Amino acid sequence: MEEFTKKILVSSEQIEQKVKEIGKEITEDYKGKELMLVGILKGAAIFMADLARSIEIPVTMDFMAVSSYGSSTKSSGVVRIIKDLDSNIEGKHILIVEDIIDTGLTLNYITDNLNKRGASSVKICTLLDKPERRKVDVPVDYRGFVIPDEFVIGYGIDYAEKYRNLPDIFSLKEKKCD
Ligand code: PRP
Ligand code: MN
Ligand code: MG
Repeated sequence: MEEFTKKILVSSEQIEQKVKEIGKEITEDYKGKELMLVGILKGAAIFMADLARSIEIPVTMDFMAVSSYGSSTKSSGVVRIIKDLDSNIEGKHILIVEDIIDTGLTLNYITDNLNKRGASSVKICTLLDKPERRKVDVPVDYRGFVIPDEFVIGYGIDYAEKYRNLPDIFSLKEKKCD
């Protein structure tokens, strides 16, 4: 990590404030409906835990884990389900909870997949959105922060599986050699 400089992009205070706001909106929008939050492991685990506690209607929670096939990873858009939902979602209102949307390929696949199972609605909530990197259009219903095309870590987001536990979100920039 020495070749990188690390700077706070979104602080834990900013995250906390935003999570409250989004929670309020979701509470209003889903009043009287049965809502199931679907967190996408592992990145969304921390956002999911905070967001769920900022929603003031009863919700159920489930998780999915997916992985891209092969090394041409995110270019193919082909995704393998590593851990599926535990229950049938037919007729349910689903809100997918993600930490970040980059190319959009992960969520494009998951949204499609959950819609095919007969959910009543499938919406998307993401904490971070990096629109410059988008390859497929994904309809985002709740969005925390739009960020520039920089490498980020923290609050669930990893670099080689590390740094997910940082309370703030940092951007990493390559150090310039002079
Ligand atoms: C990251 C992130 C999103 C996805 C976004 O997950 O958490 O799920 O990539 O990228 P995309 O929009 O280009 O598809 P990753 O595959 O790194 O797994 P992780 O959540 O376990 O870190
Ligand atoms: Mn992820
Ligand atoms: Mg990752």
